[in-house]
Amino acid sequence: MSESQLSRLDRAHASIAHRAGPPAEIAIMLGSGLGHLADAVQGATVIPYAEIAGFPLSTAPSHKGQLVIGSLFGRRAVVMQGRLHLYEGWAPRDISLAVYLLKRLGSNSLIVTNAAGGLNPDYRPGDVMLIEDHLNFTGFNPLVGPNDDAIGLRFPDMSRAYDPDLLELAAEAADRTLQPVHRGIYAGILGPSLETSAERRFLRAAGGDAVGMSTVTEVIAAVHAGLRVVGLSAITNAATGGPDQQPDTVEEVLANAAICGDKIEAILRELLPVLPQRMS
Ligand code: HPA
Repeated sequence: MSESQLSRLDRAHASIAHRAGPPAEIAIMLGSGLGHLADAVQGATVIPYAEIAGFPLSTAPSHKGQLVIGSLFGRRAVVMQGRLHLYEGWAPRDISLAVYLLKRLGSNSLIVTNAAGGLNPDYRPGDVMLIEDHLNFTGFNPLVGPNDDAIGLRFPDMSRAYDPDLLELAAEAADRTLQPVHRGIYAGILGPSLETSAERRFLRAAGGDAVGMSTVTEVIAAVHAGLRVVGLSAITNAATGGPDQQPDTVEEVLANAAICGDKIEAILRELLPVLPQRMS
C-alpha cells in the first residue's frame, strides 16, 4: 500500500523542522509571475523543495521551487515560491502535501495568489480580483483516497471555502491602497492548454469571473486542514471567448502578472498586519 499522507507529511516536516525557525503565522502561495513577492521577506530562510523529503519539484515557467520563511510586513510568514500544478503531472495528493506542510509550519491562514484570464467582460488585464468562491473544473480532488482523520474530516464543508471575514479585511486593505479590485468567482481548469472560446463562454455562463490552472486543489486541501483562505487573482489576459477574443501568449500573461504583482504586494502590505493571530 502506498504511504499515507500523514506519514509523508511527518517525513517532510521532520526533514526541515530544524531549519524552519519559530512557527509561521501566515502561509502564502505565489502564482505565475508573482514570485518576486518573496523578495520582500526579511531575515529569510530559504529551503529549496529538493531539500524537503518526499516533496515534489515545481517545473512551471517562472516558478522557483522553494519555501521562503521569515518576516513579511511584520508577520512571520512562510512563502511558497513556486507552485505545483496538476498540468505538470503532479498527483493531487502531491499538491495537498504542500498545503499540509504550510499548516504544520504553524500557519493558520493561507493567502493564495494566481494568474488568471478574465472571463468577466468588465475585467481588464492588470486588474486584481479577490476570490469569493471557486468552481472546480479540474476533474480532480486531492482528498480522493483514504482520509487522514488527524488532518481533517472525510467530507469537509466547502460552503465558505474563502473565509468571508478575511475577504472583508482584504477588501478594506485594497481600499486603503486606493486600488479598485473586483470580487468574483475563480474557475479552475486542468490545463495546460488554454480554454477554447466556447469553453470560456461556458465557464462564464457557469458563473466564473476568472479562469486559471491552479488554486482549487490547494484550497480544498486548505479547507480540509482547517486553514482560513484568502485568494487574489491577477487578471493577466482577457478570456471572454467573444468575437474580439485575441490569442493569448505566455509573455502577455507574465507582463500583466508583473503589473498585478505590484498591486497585490501593496494589498498584502496592508492586509498582513491585520490578519487575525489565532483561529477564531
Ligand atoms: N486561462 C487559464 N489559465 C490562465 C489564463 C487563462 O486565460 N491566464 C492566466 N492563467
